[in-house]
Amino acid sequence: MTEPDAAFTVLIQPLGRTFEAPDSLTVLEAASFAGLRLPRSCRNGTCRTCLCKMTAGRVRYQIEWPGVSAEEKAEGYILPCVAIAESDLVIEVSGVQQI
Ligand code: FES
Repeated sequence: MTEPDAAFTVLIQPLGRTFEAPDSLTVLEAASFAGLRLPRSCRNGTCRTCLCKMTAGRVRYQIEWPGVSAEEKAEGYILPCVAIAESDLVIEVSGVQQI
């Protein structure tokens, strides 16, 4: 028997919707599984289309050099296409499509 993935809750503001983000998925992928399409393009951490502000929580990245500067990181900006939740998150994203 395998352990279920740890999953954290992500709250999208100002939409007010939440979804579960397991350790095995990026925040972007987890949102898709919940029927929430966040802005995206490259999905590999370079184009910055998905850049959004995280007002609470902690993430780690799948890649070594995601396209977000140290200053942006310090201000809370993340790239959800390559970020994995390490705690419950609150992110600010406009233009979310509910699919
Ligand atoms: S979709 Fe391109 S950086 Fe996230």
